[in-house]
Amino acid sequence: MHDTAAGRCLFLDTAHPETHASRYCADRLGWLEARLAEHDGPFLLFMHHNPMPVHLAPLDQIRLLDDAPFQRLVGRNRLKIRHVFFGHCHLPLAGSVAGIPVSSLRGTNHASYPLFSETRLLSASDLPQSYGVVFCGEDYVTVHMVEYGYDGPIRVEGSPDYQAWDRETMVR
Ligand SMILES: [Fe+2]
Repeated sequence: MHDTAAGRCLFLDTAHPETHASRYCADRLGWLEARLAEHDGPFLLFMHHNPMPVHLAPLDQIRLLDDAPFQRLVGRNRLKIRHVFFGHCHLPLAGSVAGIPVSSLRGTNHASYPLFSETRLLSASDLPQSYGVVFCGEDYVTVHMVEYGYDGPIRVEGSPDYQAWDRETMVR
């Protein structure tokens, strides 16, 4: 637990022994329920495993497998939870769980790739490593994925006047 100006951060332990998959057991659900009940929020939740399917079969086999009780608990507290951050998939992902916005990013280790046709083995790529930068305002959360492993050029080229903007402006 860590209090910030953006809210109270809770770091959830979603590990399950002897497997890459996750289970959020009754003890940990109870811990989370107590933390959410003892404070008005807002909360920012951080967890390793994805709390919802990503529709990549090999990854979904190792997600938070018992996600229904978790989703019910956070759903009951959705107005107090600003965002859920997760990892595990090594993919830039965004969506929602029980009405709460969630996001993930590629990460600092190996990069995955959303190869939807592969049903058995995890997919890897050489896409650049990344870390996240999060800005929280009064009523917004902005999440960047900074691809620091990218070693190509970064052009600082400004933006032309609106009248001068045409298709050529955006040619790669
Ligand atoms: Fe993982």
